[in-house]
Amino acid sequence: MNKPILSVRNLSKTYMQGKIPVHALSDVSFDVQKGEFLSIIGPSGSGKSTFLSMIGLLDKPTTGSVYIDGVEVTKAKDNEAPVIRREKIGFVFQHFNLIPTLSAFGNVDIAMRFARVPKSRRKERAIELLTQMGLRERMNHRPSELSGGEQQRVAIARSMANKPAIILADEPTGEVDTKTRDMIVELLRGLSDNGQTILVVTHDMAVSSKTDRIISMLDGMIASDVLTNKK
Ligand SMILES: Nc1ncnc2c1ncn2[C@@H]1O[C@H](COP(=O)(O)OP(=O)(O)OP(=O)(O)O)[C@@H](O)[C@H]1O
Ligand SMILES: [Mg+2]
Repeated sequence: MNKPILSVRNLSKTYMQGKIPVHALSDVSFDVQKGEFLSIIGPSGSGKSTFLSMIGLLDKPTTGSVYIDGVEVTKAKDNEAPVIRREKIGFVFQHFNLIPTLSAFGNVDIAMRFARVPKSRRKERAIELLTQMGLRERMNHRPSELSGGEQQRVAIARSMANKPAIILADEPTGEVDTKTRDMIVELLRGLSDNGQTILVVTHDMAVSSKTDRIISMLDGMIASDVLTNKK
């Protein structure tokens, strides 16, 4: 067995809603190998988004550890976490989180600016990604001038910009039509064939059935973990 690209050990997250603790994640452990294309399914409130935000270093777990490439990233200091995130992780948020004052182009460009990619290279890559997403004609529009599905595709393009080792995508096809959905799944499949590791949260069986492995969450725990042997 190769060393996993991602390891999660005894991860728990408890939120306080007033005085009542909500156990969003309870003692979750699992490993992901480089190049796996994996889906996370489960009912609303089962902890899927919480899980992705712990792996993506957007929030700290209550207890437990996340290792990326053997490094315990949950021990990273507050000023180190954004650097690890920028270098290793692409995140597609459930609600897109695009910057409202920037165009589609600007939203993809800024991810690379933070990573100090030279301007000409950024421009070339942003155009390439947005064209791939079918947004070439809409590159100069701001998020408020784009449909939900278009914004979602900008968010996907942004997550791919720095060729991260791991892409974490929360419902990346929630707002798009079936043709675009299939295109996005194919694209993610291609990235995983080239060694990037992809975790998608989805409610859509047409998406999960195309992944290599399906993790099903229930009440903050992994209820099942099934290899579908796509590879
Ligand atoms: N910031 C927060 N403060 C308090 N409780 C939270 C917070 N974020 C999530 N929760 C709670 O944690 C639990 C898991 O939420 P989470 O968003 O991870 O679910 P989910 O599986 O992503 O659901 P959905 O499919 O609706 O997106 C829920 O009970 C939710 O209400
Ligand atoms: Mg969610």
